[in-house]
Amino acid sequence: MRLDLAIRQGTERLEARARGDARLDAETLMMHVLGRDRAYLYAHPDLELSSNQLNRYDETLQRRAGGEPLQYITGHQEFWGLDFLVTPAVLIPRPETEHAVEAALELLRGLEDPHIVDVGTGSGCIALALASELSQTRIEAVDISNEALEVAHRNAERLNFANRVVFSQSDLLGKYLDGAPRFDMVVSNPPYVGDSEADKLQVEVREHEPHCALFGGGKEGLDIYRRLIPQAAQALKPGGWLVMEIGYTQEQAIRELLTRWKEVQSVPDLQGIPRVVIARKK
Ligand SMILES: C[S@@+](CC[C@H](N)C(=O)[O-])C[C@H]1O[C@@H](n2cnc3c(N)ncnc32)[C@H](O)[C@@H]1O
Repeated sequence: MRLDLAIRQGTERLEARARGDARLDAETLMMHVLGRDRAYLYAHPDLELSSNQLNRYDETLQRRAGGEPLQYITGHQEFWGLDFLVTPAVLIPRPETEHAVEAALELLRGLEDPHIVDVGTGSGCIALALASELSQTRIEAVDISNEALEVAHRNAERLNFANRVVFSQSDLLGKYLDGAPRFDMVVSNPPYVGDSEADKLQVEVREHEPHCALFGGGKEGLDIYRRLIPQAAQALKPGGWLVMEIGYTQEQAIRELLTRWKEVQSVPDLQGIPRVVIARKK
């Protein structure tokens, strides 16, 4: 079968299941199967596909039509201009999380050799994006999930930051609470979907992304912040920064947890929804 016909049929198959942008997905899956970019698809509409290529394409279409996120099928997602490996052990990095990276970089400007920890690192996207902008800086990153840490470590190696970003297992900042305050910044995109909001999530997210990356914050999704904020107050040096991504209805409740902090601010996303809360330890 010709390449252009296979993509047309693939698009129709995905359209019938109403999954995202069917044409774009059908093309992305073909790029994945052929190991080629989009320009190649447009330049070779008449390419005859082998039966092996067609079988593999069919398999990926079937997974996508069944609701599996495209990124778990291709194994990749771009974040901060970097290519991340993703598996079902990690949350697929979201564009809105780039606001947390931006806010962190802005606050770190001018700080010499800051000591940073990323809590709930998942694929490692926040820690590795920061490493890509802060040459020299050593970053620590923790997660409760060993499977997620394996993916994060592979990303660090592929992106050549394995010597500067150190991953380890910890329940939030638990492993750092014995010693003296050591960090200049705690950054985190913790699980914040409330149990009561589970049915509002896209089915694709609810059924395929890791439960521990989404939930754990109780009914309103705030319980992790209730633990993380006092832990950060212990682990940060005086004047250190806490940068947290939050859910779209959580700003007020989180500000109430930060009354002992100073310079509390929120950063809106492109729709004007508060997405990141920043606070400074007194
Ligand atoms: C919303 S995901 C964020 C992943 C990644 N930082 C990102 O922005 O794409 C939350 C992450 O926190 C981790 N996590 C959940 N509970 C945790 C805990 N108690 N301590 C440490 N990490 C936790 C999950 O395994 C998951 O990787």
